[in-house]
Amino acid sequence: MDAPYDLLIKNISTMLTCTAEGEGSLGIIKGAAIASVDGKIAWVGKESELPTEAANSAADVIDARGAVAFPGLIDSHTHLVFGGSRQDEWARKLAGVPYMQIAAEGGGINATVRATRAASEDELYERASRWLDEMLSWGVTCVEGKTGYGLDTGTELKILEVMERLDKQHAVEVIPTFMGAHDFPPEYRENREAYIRLILDEMLTAVGEQGYARFCDVFCEEGAFSPDQASRILIAAQDYGMVPRLHADQFRDSGAAELAADIGAIAADHLENMDDRNIPLLKEKDVVAGLLPICSLYLNYSYPQARKMLDAGMRVAIATDFNPGSSMCSNLPFAAQLACMQMKMRFDEAILGITRSASESLLMENKIGMLAEGLRMDIALMDIPTPEYFLYHVGRKHTWKVIKRGKVVWENSAEPVFLS
Ligand code: NIG
Ligand code: FE
Repeated sequence: MDAPYDLLIKNISTMLTCTAEGEGSLGIIKGAAIASVDGKIAWVGKESELPTEAANSAADVIDARGAVAFPGLIDSHTHLVFGGSRQDEWARKLAGVPYMQIAAEGGGINATVRATRAASEDELYERASRWLDEMLSWGVTCVEGKTGYGLDTGTELKILEVMERLDKQHAVEVIPTFMGAHDFPPEYRENREAYIRLILDEMLTAVGEQGYARFCDVFCEEGAFSPDQASRILIAAQDYGMVPRLHADQFRDSGAAELAADIGAIAADHLENMDDRNIPLLKEKDVVAGLLPICSLYLNYSYPQARKMLDAGMRVAIATDFNPGSSMCSNLPFAAQLACMQMKMRFDEAILGITRSASESLLMENKIGMLAEGLRMDIALMDIPTPEYFLYHVGRKHTWKVIKRGKVVWENSAEPVFLS
């Protein structure tokens, strides 16, 4: 007879279930154990209350040796499929040339567009797969990924195909977003309306028929897409089953956050330069704020007003924005650390930002982001002495083992420091 439980993890010193909120809360269980059936959590609680059946019949048992257990981390905003590198822009950026100026001069997103169009699907797959390996090593088990370095129908579909293959073959789950409105490609610079028509009349149909993209995102910003253009695209995308989200008010207060509230976007990301007057609006429409502190550090500009958003009761997700231009960094724990150091976020808020709130921003809260019965057995076991150490010791790889759907998919080869 098959064992009913496929995996039991015991001897967890502290488990952050992320099922509760409030200062110092997070749904902490001390001395915890967790067991799965068919890759889903079937029992979770204090090890002293573990049912005998789970204790005796699990096919696999992991002794966590006192590790701290987090839900598999979720990076809810990345641009992980791209060709080439923008290392050459880095020195100019450090010398103070603004991001949007580099873009206006033919660098920026369009430099990556040229490299991505030239790359084969296999090349893009191999590169993105390496980035996912890195993300996994930080404890990340689910990543959102955007198109937007193709900006023609064929290359946009190619990027979505790459994400679909990665989702099937890589241990990290990939949730695809169509972002044909990431910039205007060179062939449409002088005729922007024609590019909007291409998106509306051709790309959305093709992406809808392909059937992979779950969300549609637009870079709504002065110099990129106006709120009016963004709104036309996002409203049309809904007819193809894509849920709207936005790159909003990154460099200027451009009306993008208001648009997010107006059209009922699931998330408004960036918000570094959003006017505070929009906070009640976003809160009322329950739009998740996707904040990207590494981008602020990398481009050396303002951080979003996370404290005000949280105090107003908004849900706040924290992500890396991993991309070759404004955040060449796959380290999601570092994003959470920066959120505390630079954005006045508390430990519990930062952790929810990379777990439960991130899952909500991807409409995945029924599957991932918390440790509760019925959800997936996606867990990151950390080699740290206390949960707070996760954000205290900055930049260190705390990860000891990563479990996805009840299987160990990554293990640190280094000897643990804090585990018995
Ligand atoms: O989220 N702002 C627009 N898009 C990306 C940057 C993309 C790039 O520079 O290649 C962002 O920061
Ligand atoms: Fe982005």
